[in-house]
Amino acid sequence: MSRSAPKSFHVKSFGCQMNVYDGERMAEMLGAEGMAVASENEADLVILNTCHIREKAAEKVYSDIGRMRRDDGSRPMIAVAGCVAQAEGAEIPRRAREVDIVVGPQAYHRLPALVAEAAQGKRAIDLDLPGLAKFDVLPRRAPKRGASAFLTVQEGCDKFCTYCVVPYTRGAEISRSFDAILEEAQALVDAGVREITLVGQNVNAWAQSGHDLGSLIRALDALPGLARIRYTTSHPNDMTDGLIAAHGDIEKLMPFLHLPVQSGSDRILKAMNRSHSAESYRAVIERVRGVRPDIAISGDFIVGFPGETEADFEATLTLIEEINYASAYSFKYSARPGTPAATMDEQIAPEIMDERLQRLQALLNAQQFAFNQASVGKRCDILIERDGKRPGQRIGKSPWLQSVVVENGPEIGTIVTVDLVSAAPNSLVGIVAIDAAA
Ligand code: 5AD
Ligand code: SF4
Repeated sequence: MSRSAPKSFHVKSFGCQMNVYDGERMAEMLGAEGMAVASENEADLVILNTCHIREKAAEKVYSDIGRMRRDDGSRPMIAVAGCVAQAEGAEIPRRAREVDIVVGPQAYHRLPALVAEAAQGKRAIDLDLPGLAKFDVLPRRAPKRGASAFLTVQEGCDKFCTYCVVPYTRGAEISRSFDAILEEAQALVDAGVREITLVGQNVNAWAQSGHDLGSLIRALDALPGLARIRYTTSHPNDMTDGLIAAHGDIEKLMPFLHLPVQSGSDRILKAMNRSHSAESYRAVIERVRGVRPDIAISGDFIVGFPGETEADFEATLTLIEEINYASAYSFKYSARPGTPAATMDEQIAPEIMDERLQRLQALLNAQQFAFNQASVGKRCDILIERDGKRPGQRIGKSPWLQSVVVENGPEIGTIVTVDLVSAAPNSLVGIVAIDAAA
């Protein structure tokens, strides 16, 4: 059965920053085809840009699809994109007949063609992993942008941590070229962006003919108009000398490092195939703090990996106490089909995972609050990103990635010097510094 070509679309992204970036690019591409953005309930085409990293992600996608029938009995054209699409493939339309398009995270530059196929009543599936093709084909980025933007520079993973689906859903590690990245960064700056966050599953594994991420950051540093540079997410083994040095002498590189460790127990790190120890992680943090003493450290943690004993878990708590995190993400281990850890003996009972996660998060939350409280009294620059709830109120980010509410803040995209006057667990309040040097 053929249906009319969609005139409007809605992209719903789940998961990591890479997906946020992909979602933005899909929207730009469909916009360039003349389609308009609409709400989820009104769009002719709804794209679920899915995440497969944890929990029953695929189940959630199926229940989302089930809820898409509208009051008048109609339903939009439905595309499933992202990592669940890659992992489940043709199984998706078998289980959910209403799905028209399945497109993997490396193939969405072909979205307009897939939409045209679906409009003719065909089911369109594209799960190729053609590497960098999507970046080459995607249109130039849209003219109007916010204060801060993501820029994907690297994708995929060769590390094969035993719990993780990414090597299977996003493919092998690939780096975009220096020139392509600089060109896109320039386009973002021309569109008013003040801060660029370089993203990649292993962003610090970015490499190009002898250059490392440190050199890329140095090249971006030279772009006039760009005020702040960040990058996420990194692997401890890819913290090169050049990248660490950049933290010491590139002012635009913000003093924040998200460096996942997952566990503080060497036995568990080994079973996870992390290829680093708790000690080598500590040593990397020490080196970064050596060149940038005020750097805020953030991490990712998994509790309840198969075989994790109380002693292993306590080693994680000890590591957290030693490092002292400014922020962190923590998760219960979730067995992902097809990964080596999913079939390991000694899977941990859910109640134990719950209890460990609570203890871990209590410690991490306390550290984050303490970090925010220790910032009170400091004077720093805030990049204003959005309006706050009350008139005149704006919300922006400190150099350490804290959310700061600024009363009577200047317009979005401005960098303003404030005095931090109070702290809450997840944010701070700042007052525009009147006597700050202009
Ligand atoms: N179970 C729980 N957490 C996971 N992560 C990745 N895979 C899993 C899994 N199977 C977490 C890791 C990673 C973050 C992006 O998600 O902490 O750093
Ligand atoms: Fe989710 Fe990982 Fe895929 Fe990002 S890369 S969407 S976090 S599975």
